[in-house]
Parts: sequence; structure tokens; C-alpha cells
Amino acid sequence: MVEEKEQEEKVKEEIERLREEINYHNYRYYVLDSPVISDAEYDALFRRLVELESKYPHLITPDSPTQRVGAKPLEEFGTVRHTIPMLSLNNAFDPQEVIEFDERVKRFLGIDEEIEYVAEPKLDGLAVELIYEEGRFVKGATRGDGYVGEDVTQNLKTIKSIPLRVLRDSPNPVPRRLEVRGEVFMPIEAFEKLNKEREIKGEPLFANPRNAAAGSVRQLDPRITASRPLDIFCYGVGVVEGVTFSTHWEVLEALKGWGFKVNPHIRLCRGIEEALKYHDEMEEMRERLPYELDGVVLKVNSLELQERLGVLTRSPRWAIAYKFKPRQATTRIRDIVAQVGRTGALTPVAILEPVRVGGVTIERSTLHNQDEIDRKDIRIGDWVIVQRAGDVIPEVVAPVKDRRTGQERPYHLPDRCPLCGSAVIKEGAIHRCTGGLACPAQLKETIKHFASKRAMDIEGLGEKHVEQLLEKGLIRDVADIYYLKKEDLLKLERFAERSAENLLKSIEKSKKTTLPRLIYALGIRQVGEHMARVLADEFGSLEALMEADYERLLKIKEVGPETAESIVAFFREPHNRKVIEKLKKAGVTYEVPKKGRLSGKTFVFTGALKAFTREEAKRLVEAEGGKVASSVSRKVDYVVVGESPGSKYEEARRLGIPMLTEEEFKELIGKA
Ligand code: IVH
Repeated sequence: MVEEKEQEEKVKEEIERLREEINYHNYRYYVLDSPVISDAEYDALFRRLVELESKYPHLITPDSPTQRVGAKPLEEFGTVRHTIPMLSLNNAFDPQEVIEFDERVKRFLGIDEEIEYVAEPKLDGLAVELIYEEGRFVKGATRGDGYVGEDVTQNLKTIKSIPLRVLRDSPNPVPRRLEVRGEVFMPIEAFEKLNKEREIKGEPLFANPRNAAAGSVRQLDPRITASRPLDIFCYGVGVVEGVTFSTHWEVLEALKGWGFKVNPHIRLCRGIEEALKYHDEMEEMRERLPYELDGVVLKVNSLELQERLGVLTRSPRWAIAYKFKPRQATTRIRDIVAQVGRTGALTPVAILEPVRVGGVTIERSTLHNQDEIDRKDIRIGDWVIVQRAGDVIPEVVAPVKDRRTGQERPYHLPDRCPLCGSAVIKEGAIHRCTGGLACPAQLKETIKHFASKRAMDIEGLGEKHVEQLLEKGLIRDVADIYYLKKEDLLKLERFAERSAENLLKSIEKSKKTTLPRLIYALGIRQVGEHMARVLADEFGSLEALMEADYERLLKIKEVGPETAESIVAFFREPHNRKVIEKLKKAGVTYEVPKKGRLSGKTFVFTGALKAFTREEAKRLVEAEGGKVASSVSRKVDYVVVGESPGSKYEEARRLGIPMLTEEEFKELIGKA
């Protein structure tokens, strides 16, 4: 017993040491951006901590670096009352207003000398308060209405630059209670990446990094927050127990010492002239910063003077936000064109009379989709307000309707693809070209899918080859794959006699396929592997499927209206039909799985078969409507046992799954 206790004491010490170390390295990496150990060394420390904590789960504490993610989704946020209200700021938009602010300050204080200001970048994000007790992060809240905010503790914990523990070896002692205020933001690049992903997934886009940051912090599921690259700059404090300061600058220094991230571009300015200069410098620097600024904040440095100045309803008399010029401009839409993306989505793009916005010339801007155009009532010839959303991506905000002359024309996305002439259909908010097999914009994705393992299974035709074949104009549609000659392949980089022959062989081999695979390979939207199987069972031939109309398709239990429409649109498109014809001419043939024979059955093979290779056996099973799995589980119906079977045999016995000899298998598939 005593030994056990001693052992546990030791573990506790090691855990504590690891946490301190990890915290420090986290701080070096995420706050200072200057790590002192390699990623591998950091990972090793982290893994060791995870290992110990999983052995001794009762030693896990909420401030352990392992506890940043993993909290369960909430039903709703709790509320947090701020001990000291979180105020907002008065705005100034030109130097004159800032000079008047300075004069007001001096008049109020009855002093003549220059006032010392701390000048800080004003980040555009979400204001939060972080609460520490005895140096440990215990609660985090949004600003809310300034008095009461939402409890977003779990979400804030996922932000790596927020310390879970205050650094102890800092010039100031660790306060008993410490309330830190700062702005959570999303770096511009991360914002753009997130929006791109959302566009692909058909999710609504965030208008700017500010909304993205706010939306991410106010997520009920902390795992979503954890997946969003958020960061923070701290700019002030609420209650600090046990430490006193005489200037705001000291506060910021103390925050840095405790391990909080403070913006590196803060500056102490003697007099308002210096502060005005700071504003102009930051406005110029704004273009090069990886995050969004909407101005600078000027704060009277002396806390005593701050105290004397006091607060005016909702904002302090001792601070002002001096905003940057909005990055908006007015220009005309010369034209709207439709751009076709790699998935066939048509995006309307406004061609603008070039205009400078915040130092960058804008000539085009996405209009996202037809619904957006209709909602904003944007027309060709309109004068429009443009802005750099997230101050980076140009965006048309709204038309200036007062300037309309009557010459403006409404715009509609074309009903034919501008690149391949195929019909365009609407799927939700997205217009999409249906010429999947022939459209140049989609060709790379189409071919990659067509050749993939679960489709036509053309071994050795990788993405790089596809790119080169397209670049050299050697293929214009998927069927062209079957007309490639050795001379063609030798023109590609890193293709020698041998590799060319191998690829041609696997292309040749892929010509013999099954109907479900062929249907799947066509890349019809909404038709995945399972649906392809269902359609193959139902129609028994590609020709029959091609002639099926909407009503006929809807009669199938598993086919919904969207899928039916997508299938009809695909085969209605003459371009696609031509390519299918070409595939047949090239010698692509398929077996039709006899419905019922092996339909719904899953096979696993173990050991060597005499009569066929694994790949052949697989095709045979699939041709009969069955599936082949690579490992044994309870879902498997038969295990086919060849010569010198492996561990799958044991596993099958253990689970009591029926086993077949090669002969029995042949009988079952009708090849005996
Ligand atoms: S100080 C009493 N400093 O701007 C002072 N605010 O309208 C209150 N903000 O809600 C705030 N950067 O979200 C301060 N360096 C900075 C700031 C900053 C951004 C935001 C904050 C606040 C709003 C004030």
C-alpha cells in the first residue's frame, strides 16, 4: 500500500512537471511564435502525459494541456456576469475628431501638458473575458451586452494561444483572481480556406473573418471550435487581485509576462500627434498583416488619469477608437460571366470597371450564385458598392439604385454550360453543368473518378498522369483513355517503354467490368456505389437505365427526386451519350450481376485460389451482385478458403462464419 502511494506521488510529480513543460512550450510556440524544441520533442512530452493520464485518470485536471478539446456539446450556453462591465469605445473617423478627443481629455483633467497614450491595433473579432483563479483558467465568456456574456469556457480552451495556466516565473506574482480581456480573431488566410471548404460543401459562407470568429466561438460543439484556427490578442484586464498597476502599459507588460498574447504593434505615444502618426502607419501596415484591423485604439496611459476621467454611459472618456477608411468603393459592372468550377458548378462573376479599394485594384468579383444576385438585385451596368470582404476577397455589397438609367439588364446564369454546351440544372442554390463526361472544366475530376479503384479500376493512372494527358491534349473525354497508344504515353514525363506497356495493360483489363462499376464510374451526381448497384439491379443494362424517365426512377424505393432528376439530366445530355457510345466502341463491356444470386452477400478470401487471381474472383463476386471485404467481421456471409489460409481463417472460425472451399465457391457463382 505504502509503495503504491509512493509510486502515485512520483507519477503525480511527473505529470505536474510535464504539464509545466508543455505549457511553456505551448507559450513559446503559440504566443511568442518562437519554439525552442522540435515538434517531435513536443509530441513526445505530450504523448507521455496522455499515457500517464490514461493510466491515472483521477489525476486529470481541467487545466491539463490534454483537456483543450474533448468536451461534450452543450444544449445551450450558461451566462456570466462581468465583475466590471465590458465597455465599448467611441469612434473617430478623421484626425480632427481625434484632436477634439485629446482636447476634451485635457479640459476635463484641467491640464495643459501632452497626454501619454497607449496606441493599439483594433482587431476585428469577438471580445472575450478570460477568468483565472490561482493562475488557472476557470471560465471564459463573451462580451455579450457588456454586463452579461455567454459562458464559452470549453470553446476558448481550444484556442492554443490562450494559456490554461498563468506563467509562474513572471515579474509579477500570480493574482488570486485575474480577469483578462481580449479579442478572438481568425487570421485572414484561415478564413479564406474555411470559406472555400464551406463553398464546396454547399454551406453558407461567412461574410468576413469577424463573423467567422464569432460564429466559431459561439458553437455549442467545442469540437467544431477546435477545428477552426482561432487566435487572440489580449488588450486589458478586469479585476486583478493582489497586483496593482499605475499605467496601462504596465498592464500590457504584465499580461505578456503571465504568458498572454499581446499585439506586438502596440506603442507608447507622447501626445496626440504621435498617436495620429501611429494610426497612419498602421493603416499602411494593415495590408501586410495576416489579420484584420479596423482601426487603432488610443488609451490614456495613466490609470490614475483614467480613473479621474471615468466612464460616460457605455464608453470610457479615456479611450477612443480611430477607425481606418472603409475599404469600399463604387464602380460599374461591365458584364457578368459564368465560370465553371471543377465540379461543374457555375459561378457568376462580375467584371468591374477597375477600381482601387484599400490599395488594391479590383477588376472582378464573385457574385456567389443566382440567388445572391436576385437577393441583392444586381444588374449588368449597375453602379455598385464593392468592398474587400474580410477586406481581402472583393465582394459586391449592393447596387446603387439611385444611379440607374434604365439601361441596366438583369442577369441569369445560362441554361447551357459556357464551356461544353451541356444543359445546366439547379441543385439548391447551385447551378450545375450536367455534361460530366465531356465538360473540360470537370474533366480532371471526372477522369480521376472514372479510373479509381472502385470504379473502372485502371491501375497506375494517377492524378499526375491525368494532368499531363489533359495538358498535352491527349484526352478530351473519359473514352479517350481507351484510344491511347504507346507513343502517346511515351510523351509523358517519367514514362518509359515498360511503364507505358503496364498502363496500357491495365487500361485494357479495365474494359471488362460490371454494370454497377460502370454506372458508378460515369460520375453522375448523387449516384454513389450503392445507388449504382441499386440501378444495375433494377435495370439490368446501361441502355435501359439511359432510357428511364423521371417517374420510372422515382418508383424505385431508394431513389429520391434529386437523384432521379440528376440521372435523367445526365443521360439527356447528348455530350454524355456520345461519350458512352464511344466507350462501347472502344470495347468496354460489362457483366450484369444476376439479380439475387449473390446480391447483398459479402465475401472474404483467404489463402491462394487455383483457378483465378483475387482480382478475378472479386470481379466474379461483383458480377453476381456480391461484395468482397478485406477483413472478417460479423457482417461477412462467406469466407472462401484457399490454400494455406491466413489468420482470417481463424477469425472466421471464431465467429462461426460459413466457409467455402474453392470448389464450393465456383459452384455458388455458377462457374463450376
Ligand atoms: S479596449 C474600454 N482595445 O473594440 C475599452 N478594444 O468598441 C474597451 N477591440 O468590444 C475595449 N481591439 O471588441 C480595446 N486593442 C483593443 C481592441 C478593442 C479590438 C474591440 C473590442 C471592444 C470594441 C470596442
